Amino acid sequence: MSDRPQIILKLASSLDGRIATASGESRWITGEQARAKVHRIRAESDGVLVGAGTALMDDPELTARLVRPSKKQPLRIVLDTDLRLPSTSKLARTIDQGVVVIYAARGLEPTTVERMEATGAKVVHVPRALGGVDLDAVFEDLKLNWAVNTLLIEGGGSLAASLIKQGYVDRLEWFRAPILLGEEGRAAIGPLQLKQLADAPMFKRVATRQLGPDLWESYERAEVPALTPVDVEGAGA
Ligand SMILES: NC(=O)c1ccc[n+]([C@@H]2O[C@H](COP(=O)([O-])OP(=O)(O)OC[C@H]3O[C@@H](n4cnc5c(N)ncnc54)[C@H](OP(=O)(O)O)[C@@H]3O)[C@@H](O)[C@H]2O)c1
Repeated sequence: MSDRPQIILKLASSLDGRIATASGESRWITGEQARAKVHRIRAESDGVLVGAGTALMDDPELTARLVRPSKKQPLRIVLDTDLRLPSTSKLARTIDQGVVVIYAARGLEPTTVERMEATGAKVVHVPRALGGVDLDAVFEDLKLNWAVNTLLIEGGGSLAASLIKQGYVDRLEWFRAPILLGEEGRAAIGPLQLKQLADAPMFKRVATRQLGPDLWESYERAEVPALTPVDVEGAGA
């Protein structure tokens, strides 16, 4: 699909690729300088989106607060199939700071939808799909109806896996903290169900910088070159 925003996936992980403890605690894995950089990227984006898991666990505001956006605050977006987000959430309570759009499945109880809309958040109904709502429909709507050309997605791991599996991620902004969270921590990227190493999605590092104790790495989607006959003959070395 070409009628979609450019998609940037941001994750802040431990050295061993975990974005939260087993109990879901993730604030704050990285330090102040890394968080300021995230807010700069937010300020440059037309929209900032999270999955329902992150919205419920972290109760984020998703505003660019540590830097002043040169344009208006980015659109704040949640994929919340069954409208589980409570009206007491920070997003629902800070509508005065910027528009909140919630993508939910079609056919929900009218009272559930009314409860959410009463907060001032906009509910957009899209088809259900594996893992939640249909991402094609979400991105097309964001581009066509909300003028979102650059979309920052801030996790969590389940949504990140959906995006990677469906080939949506154009850029990765990875913030790595010098800590270890172990196998029981929550993985930055959920299951990808790869059958072999050759199927691994590949990215090309285009920038790296130390931000206080943390490392910021920026990646673009790598174009995988077609195998030449020589490559095929040489394979297996
Ligand atoms: N360190 C970091 O950078 C960072 C960033 C973000 C989050 N986190 C941590 O990650 C944890 C939350 O991650 P999570 O994996 O549990 O949840 P998540 O990825 O934030 O959200 C997943 C949920 O989003 C909804 N969803 C709707 N459409 C979807 C689709 N097409 N594909 C995937 N999901 C879709 C589904 O819930 P419904 O069916 O209910 O809609 C799904 O269960 C928290 O502990 C949070 O602190 C860390």
